[in-house]
Amino acid sequence: MPEDFLPFFREDTTVSMISSPAAGDSQACRDSHRDFLFPCLLPLYSEPLVLSSAQGVWVKDLDGKEYLDFFAGILTTSLGHRHPAVLEATRRQMEQLGHISSLYIHPNQVEVARKLAEISPGGLKSCYFTNSGTEAVETAIMLAQMYTGRQEIIVLRLSFSGRSTVACNMTGNVYWRPLPSSAANIKHAMSPFPYRSPFSGSEEELAERFANDIEEVIQTTTNGKPAAFFAETIQGVGGYIVPPRGYFQRAARIIRNYGGLFISDEVQTGFGRTGEKWFGIEHWDVEPDIMVMAKGIANGAPVGATITRPEIAQAWTAKTISTYGGNPVSMAAARATLEVMQQENTPRRSTERGKQLRQGLNALADRFECIGEVRGMGLMQAIELVEDRQRKQPSSAKAMELIEACKKEGLLLGLGGLNGNVIRIGPSMLISPDEVSQGLERLERAFAQCF
Ligand SMILES: Cc1ncc(COP(=O)(O)O)c(C=O)c1O
Repeated sequence: MPEDFLPFFREDTTVSMISSPAAGDSQACRDSHRDFLFPCLLPLYSEPLVLSSAQGVWVKDLDGKEYLDFFAGILTTSLGHRHPAVLEATRRQMEQLGHISSLYIHPNQVEVARKLAEISPGGLKSCYFTNSGTEAVETAIMLAQMYTGRQEIIVLRLSFSGRSTVACNMTGNVYWRPLPSSAANIKHAMSPFPYRSPFSGSEEELAERFANDIEEVIQTTTNGKPAAFFAETIQGVGGYIVPPRGYFQRAARIIRNYGGLFISDEVQTGFGRTGEKWFGIEHWDVEPDIMVMAKGIANGAPVGATITRPEIAQAWTAKTISTYGGNPVSMAAARATLEVMQQENTPRRSTERGKQLRQGLNALADRFECIGEVRGMGLMQAIELVEDRQRKQPSSAKAMELIEACKKEGLLLGLGGLNGNVIRIGPSMLISPDEVSQGLERLERAFAQCF
């Protein structure tokens, strides 16, 4: 190490840091959040939580109250907070080399790409790293347009794709669209949502009716030459909407008949979350042409990835860089996360703990009339709250009341659905049977208080 580097590594070097708020300062934190951050950032709860530390599925707020985390920072701390292997790999990498940019190669990057190719379906082998799901979505859309030489993209209503201009245009939910549509090439087909379906019939029949809508959208709102059909395999923000069996097979067939690609958004459903398989789309026996991932991929480090077949990746001939995409530290987190996922078999764990969770939620549905439906797969389970089971009117007030009561009980949950009436659960996939039981007990107490 050159001599003039040394002063920065002396132990007595005093580092001046802005002091972080001490216990008891949570109100000051909330006030500063209100004063210095965009008001559009809407933390959950009438009195937002200020979190300060965590371990596994347990988080603590600044006032020392402990919560069982059933939402994992939006399905992101897939192995639980501060998983020792991820912590150690990240810390070590930070000490060695913190940044390179995409101008250089780092072994972590290559290893993560290799592992993703190993667990991804079909011939998906070529990877592009970004810092978020939004960027991964954008990369997939641009790539599909370059590969096909076409522009139009079919997406789904009730979807959520992120916060860039294109992703907001793709998002099929008024509450997440701050501006009017500006991308004329994005067309929305029906959400394959059996619980709120305008059609009736068997699962197969519903799958056909919903998939037919994709064809109708192509035939009535495009030039007949779509670049791609893009869909989440379970619509997450939409309220964990699980499409009927057979839908994706038909959807993929339709888009391919019209010469377009099928892009699967696995940002929420990836890495074993839905049980049994690494990716949600594998449940439906369909090989996507492009897949996007983020959230659980690096246990909370900012990583997005777009993976595709090499011949599709080759279509991107213009120059591109990502300053932070593939960063050695976030890649160290992803590498350690993927290793632990393989060792611990997160798909199997999600199946087992998901079954336990689902049983508990079904038991609640037997007792509480305001539960319209329990749905989901693996450790991605939701409860849709309604005013009345017959008429199914969504009740956001009930969902908010329940979320607040759960907070008092020390249980963190998520919200979703167009009307904010769906309780979303998605804890770490390493959650123990006892922790699942504790969460269900807290949820049951909150239900009993509210309804
Ligand atoms: C399915 C899906 N795709 C994309 C995104 C965007 O990801 P990010 O928030 O990392 O930009 C999200 C975020 O919630 C998502 O749920």
